[in-house]
Amino acid sequence: MSNPSILILAGDGIGPEVMAEVRKITDWFGERRGLRFDVSEDLVGGAAYDVHGVPLADATMKKAQAVDAVLLGAVGGPQYDDLDFAVKPERGLLRLRKEMDLFANLRPAQCFDALADFSSLKREVVAGLDIMIVRELTSGVYFGEPRGIFEEKGERVGINTQRYTEGEIERVARAAFELARKRQGRVCSMEKANVMESGILWREVVQAVHDADYPDIALSHMYADNGAMQLVRQPRQFDVIVTDNLFGDLLSDVAAMLTGSLGMLPSASLGAPMENGRPRALYEPVHGSAPDIAGQGKANPCACILSFAMALRYSFNEGTEADRLERAVEKVLADGVRTPDLMQAGDRAPVSTSEMGDAVIRALDAGL
Ligand code: IPM
Ligand code: MG
Repeated sequence: MSNPSILILAGDGIGPEVMAEVRKITDWFGERRGLRFDVSEDLVGGAAYDVHGVPLADATMKKAQAVDAVLLGAVGGPQYDDLDFAVKPERGLLRLRKEMDLFANLRPAQCFDALADFSSLKREVVAGLDIMIVRELTSGVYFGEPRGIFEEKGERVGINTQRYTEGEIERVARAAFELARKRQGRVCSMEKANVMESGILWREVVQAVHDADYPDIALSHMYADNGAMQLVRQPRQFDVIVTDNLFGDLLSDVAAMLTGSLGMLPSASLGAPMENGRPRALYEPVHGSAPDIAGQGKANPCACILSFAMALRYSFNEGTEADRLERAVEKVLADGVRTPDLMQAGDRAPVSTSEMGDAVIRALDAGL
């Protein structure tokens, strides 16, 4: 049998730097754990635009459909701000999500004990925080039709459409319930059923899926605005949150900041199973391309490394190895190794992106 395949799309800004550290980690698993991957690389975002005039070439899209998992760094940068909407770097990412039908976006917000003081909230509110946000990723207002800027009665009108089918709600609800079964068994669904018909349908369908197949899970519903408030008031009340594309975009940024360390947060975007039983999957750090620090060795590679840990868990069924990698990252933090984004008064000098990668490798070696 051939090795599982990974396509790396490092993208723009700090993407290539943090991905270089992930390559060290994939090599380590090959050499030390016998987990060999066939790794190929291609362009996405501004890097693809510079070469192909589009943020994702058709040939790259085809490769992404053919591999077992895609690892993405980050897309975007100020030099692309004035580009036509259709060829902006972000469109490359949105095309991948849509055409791979990656409907379930898993965004864990976990507070590492060594970093609890970085949160904008008090340590006692965030210590031990472990939330999983499941964001619907392929529908809703991001993709709904009609959309556009039109002329109407002598002025322009901008239109986007929030649209969800029962099937789209059902499949992401199932993903959330399945995850909850492996966690604390609680799901909170968020919408705006008080003002949006799509929210009324969302609530009904999530409840129906629960009643039919997941009675063992404790399900609650919340309006998304209240959800945002509860997230900063008492975040530990949540286990799994399931919500739509736009609310999920906002709520996951809020949850990310609770942990205080955007440079630490991974994500997985999962679709339906392929022929080999693995889900279509793309893994990426939650942070962006950070053009202000790109190319200076200042970026924290941990979010990207932890995204690979999610790939081990969700694509390659290697939960034990994923735990191993997550423990190594936690150990490095507990030892006080810090990239510049994690510095506090009194800390020793920060390490570079590649020194952080090396420290994780040493922790992996020490854990064998
Ligand atoms: C995210 C980002 C994207 C989104 C952008 C870059 C298109 O904010 O992944 O959360 O809005 O989905
Ligand atoms: Mg976002």
